[in-house]
Amino acid sequence: MTQAGRGGIGHAELDALDKAHGFHPFTALREHEANGPLMIVEGRGCQLTASDGATYLDAMAGLWCVNIGYGSEEMAEAIAAQCRRLSYYHSFSSMANDVSTMLAARLVEMAPAPMSRVFFGNSGSDANDTQMKMVWYYNNVLGRPERKKIISRLRGYHGVTIATAGLTGLDNLHDGFDVPLPMIRHVRAPHRLWEAEPGTSDAELSARLARELEELIVAEGPETVAAFIAEPIQAAGGVIVPPAGYFEAIGAVLRRYDILLIADEVVCGFGRLGRMWGSEVFGLEPDLITVAKGITSAYVPLSACLVSGKVWEVLADGGSRYGVFGHGYTYSAHPLAAAAALTNLDIIERDDLVGQAAKRGEQLQRRLREVFAEHPNVGEVRGEGLIGAVELVEQRDPARRFDPARRVGARLALAARRHGVITRALPASDSVAFSPPFVVTEPELDEMVEGVRHGLDDVVAELATE
Ligand SMILES: Cc1ncc(COP(=O)(O)O)c(C=O)c1O
Repeated sequence: MTQAGRGGIGHAELDALDKAHGFHPFTALREHEANGPLMIVEGRGCQLTASDGATYLDAMAGLWCVNIGYGSEEMAEAIAAQCRRLSYYHSFSSMANDVSTMLAARLVEMAPAPMSRVFFGNSGSDANDTQMKMVWYYNNVLGRPERKKIISRLRGYHGVTIATAGLTGLDNLHDGFDVPLPMIRHVRAPHRLWEAEPGTSDAELSARLARELEELIVAEGPETVAAFIAEPIQAAGGVIVPPAGYFEAIGAVLRRYDILLIADEVVCGFGRLGRMWGSEVFGLEPDLITVAKGITSAYVPLSACLVSGKVWEVLADGGSRYGVFGHGYTYSAHPLAAAAALTNLDIIERDDLVGQAAKRGEQLQRRLREVFAEHPNVGEVRGEGLIGAVELVEQRDPARRFDPARRVGARLALAARRHGVITRALPASDSVAFSPPFVVTEPELDEMVEGVRHGLDDVVAELATE
């Protein structure tokens, strides 16, 4: 049966309209003109319905964000109620609204490290952009204007603005866009499969990567390096789980040179790893924290920069030199987003969805290993809590990648979709990811893994004929 979109517009018409006028992010533009979209019109729990009536299990919670699942009546009510009471007011020039004030206090209280203030934005990208500006401002106020370099990691993902696309360590975000900005540096990803000799222990790998960071800092001149930014698990860059001791070793280097740590908790924050924060799981001690996505389970766009007292005191003192803090967005502290976040956090706490993510996470990690770990074309199964990835290789031992031109990862994601499961092929490797809503049921999670397994069978059969 044809599923109608808004206003009863049918599948074919929607498809034509999108081909004619859609300009999609991270999309092969010419291919899209020819092939059109997968048009989603409804979501409930983990299930999505497309405009042609087909249904899918969403193994990615959208883009790692719909943590409480789609279609929550409670969220709809809370957002509608806020819309009726106060649909908008800005937060410039000391103006405030009650809901975002309550949210800021709640975030400070629940943060994984001592934090003092919260600056709201609309996306993970603009929040990390704000973090960079705050770090520069901080060093200007401190009278050390040469401290401007930001170090991030290859295959880290921190956004797409002119500044943050450079922080993101993925070539396809740089190519053709004249980024990274000149003050950005990258170090290696802590990825055992490609960055360590077989037999290297976690302790050795962590020590080596920390030594490389220190060598870079010394080569650049420590007095020029302002901050290091890292996701606890590098999500979009491949679901890269750091070796034990990594962040402890990195943290020691940063403290030695008085370099700030920005923890990008956009994916890991609010329970994805089976604990409230990735920083708790991996021992980060950040000065600044970025959140987005799971803060509202993506019901309304919202991001936030959590700022420690150490940084805040300097920023606040900056007023005597620079006047009013000249940064902010029309939609900073938007009350609809704040109401959505407060209700989302209520739901997560009341329904113990972090505990649920831990439980289903244990199932996910076990099933991924049972189903994929011994497959001759699987180089690595990795993950933690309710986030995981399966990386395909042409040969296992020693590991050899497929020719990227064969787009094996992307083909697997498409094949899984034919089996009713939406996963995501990650850039820079032939990996597909799992990051389902925390409300995923045990049978749904099994079905997601099975869908990808059937997809892999299809792709392997296809490859054998090439
Ligand atoms: C860790 C991380 N930081 C930042 C961002 C950017 O967020 P947005 O797409 O909301 O700008 C993302 C997006 O996937 C992310 O995964």
